[in-house]
Amino acid sequence: MLLDVGSRSGRYGVHIEPGTAERVSGLLDAAGVPKRRFLVSNPTVWRFHEPVFAGVTPEEPILIPDGERHKNLQTVGRVYDALLRAHADRASAIIAIGGGVVGDTAGFAAATYLRGVPVVQIPTTLLAQVDSAIGGKVGVNHAQGKNLIGAFHPPSLVIVDPALLATLPRREFRAGLYEVVKYGVIASRPLFERVAASLGPLFKRDPEALMAIVSESCRIKAGVVEQDERETGVRRTLNFGHTAGHALEAVTRYRRFRHGEAVGYGMLVAAEIATARGTMAAAERDLLAALIAKMGPLPAVADLPVADALEAITHDKKVVAGQLHYVLPKAIGESEVVADVTKDEIAAGLRSIGLSASA
Ligand SMILES: NC(=O)c1ccc[n+]([C@@H]2O[C@H](COP(=O)([O-])OP(=O)(O)OC[C@H]3O[C@@H](n4cnc5c(N)ncnc54)[C@H](O)[C@@H]3O)[C@@H](O)[C@H]2O)c1
Ligand SMILES: [Zn+2]
Repeated sequence: MLLDVGSRSGRYGVHIEPGTAERVSGLLDAAGVPKRRFLVSNPTVWRFHEPVFAGVTPEEPILIPDGERHKNLQTVGRVYDALLRAHADRASAIIAIGGGVVGDTAGFAAATYLRGVPVVQIPTTLLAQVDSAIGGKVGVNHAQGKNLIGAFHPPSLVIVDPALLATLPRREFRAGLYEVVKYGVIASRPLFERVAASLGPLFKRDPEALMAIVSESCRIKAGVVEQDERETGVRRTLNFGHTAGHALEAVTRYRRFRHGEAVGYGMLVAAEIATARGTMAAAERDLLAALIAKMGPLPAVADLPVADALEAITHDKKVVAGQLHYVLPKAIGESEVVADVTKDEIAAGLRSIGLSASA
């Protein structure tokens, strides 16, 4: 399947198919990607997938350390160093092969090296395949917070091979699956139902089961970013589950949850708020809760005070001019952004997932 995504710096293709990673060189040539190609990956991904990618370029791969804590300017500096050592010029391209950390870091290096060289995204985690590789947001963390340094640098090409997910640890896979559920709730009831009906094959990484949910998720993400690249309107709906989710990550100092797991909780909070307001039927919330329960246990939250999470929510960078835009589901497959959710409503939502009422 080929998606064609419009961005302010031109259109780019998203190829989605099990086995596409085997055809990278041809796809790069066909997309007109410059011939001097520098792979950026990490040792974990490279250990598993070197045989597939080693033939793409004669240049030494640039391997950056694995882990969110290395998604910073120091690592970007190491990528610049390697590019400069190899005399990479403006007729060079960066090929990012890895999860969101590699994609965001390599993408930011590409956005800034010589004022910008093309980047190709080859995502290898479920999260990166359905989310971070599409849309052009790149960047790194700062000691003061996540993703504070960044740019918009749309890729020249995205190559999504669901077969690469075979080696992904189960917890990482599951974390990505919450984002797929997110797409289902905000935009596609059939996608939601498909996930619910195929958890077995999905966890076994059955290529056909994966292809169905990855391609549908990419289609939704691509559609949204095309309409609203800079996140002023509809792109906000992608933050469904992320308001409370980010707060849970922040109050546990990013150590307890995989991002997607926190989003799993965040979706439940939003559904609870919507149900309490009467804008979503309780039966719909129950469908979501049942799917999330069926996907497996989430890390504990009973020790986390509601007040701390609320405090983190009001500090979120998504609070624009003091207004918190909250994405609420109306039904499975339909959502809305509302600006009048009160702290009390959020507190009740947080209590409903098990946070502790007192400090
Ligand atoms: N740019 C965006 O629009 C956007 C959107 C969402 C998230 N993000 C960012 O994405 C990052 C999270 O990405 P992530 O969840 O992919 O985490 P990650 O990049 O840290 O990858 C998770 C782990 O899986 C390993 N891994 C990757 N592919 C593998 C494979 N095929 N087999 C075995 N192991 C593999 C990685 O080495 C890592 O240890 C965060 O920094 C987040 O801010 C960016
Ligand atoms: Zn997310």
